[in-house]
Amino acid sequence: MKGVILAGGTGSRLYPLTKVTNKHLLPVYDKPMICYPLQTLMDAGIDDILIVSGRGHVGHFLELLGSGSDMGVRLSYEIQEGAGGIAQALGLAKRWSNGDDLAVILGDNIFEDSVRDAVESFEGGARVFLKEVLDAHRFGVAEVAGDRIVSIEEKPEKPKSNLAVTGLYLYDHRVFDVIKTLKPSGRGELEITDVNNAYIGQGEMGFSVLRGFWSDAGTFDSLLRASQMVKKHMRDEKVN
Ligand code: DAU
Repeated sequence: MKGVILAGGTGSRLYPLTKVTNKHLLPVYDKPMICYPLQTLMDAGIDDILIVSGRGHVGHFLELLGSGSDMGVRLSYEIQEGAGGIAQALGLAKRWSNGDDLAVILGDNIFEDSVRDAVESFEGGARVFLKEVLDAHRFGVAEVAGDRIVSIEEKPEKPKSNLAVTGLYLYDHRVFDVIKTLKPSGRGELEITDVNNAYIGQGEMGFSVLRGFWSDAGTFDSLLRASQMVKKHMRDEKVN
């Protein structure tokens, strides 16, 4: 399986922190944000990784991470012109992926859990990783019945569960056929939730529920929380 890190978008919710630099280069405790999703993919045994980012900052990612050879991985880079949504950014990975299965991770998502088992046992279709949260309305929210996901709603006013869909997805190569059929949402983006609902509709979506700490880091509060949680859970240090 190959890996894709999506690090495009405008980071408008973190302005002015993102006025001159990219959101995914901001610090989360003791590392630039993008190092966390990269580590999650590497810990899952993935060593061929594409980083998709906006035009203005691709050089900064290159300077930070280079070829990846010192980390034992091969890094490639792709540019997303504009910020047409997560699914649009993923669509740019089509030629590079060359028919392989993909682990796709959002550049602002921090995971404590390893997903190595799920990656190694993946047998096609798609898989999402859910996490119980208190503020589900900020995320894609899954409705689950037994061992099945019934649907995912993107940022619902009245969430049907407290299970957020985190920014880590496994897909087979058919994901690119799904992306071709998408129409922009109300916020003008090609939504990853629409991709996931297409797999659900075909009965091809699996899921896991994460046990460890998870956070996005795309707002002031979640960025602060992510730093505190990394210090506490991933560095085993007390948060003052
Ligand atoms: O964090 C998990 C959530 O991420 C999910 O629960 C939602 O279903 C999913 O839609 C997404 O929600 P956000 O609205 O928080 O996503 P955001 O626009 O902040 O983008 C998250 C990352 O995706 C961002 O750090 C980089 C990448 N991205 C985003 C856009 C809009 C791109 O690479 N290109 C883009 O055009």
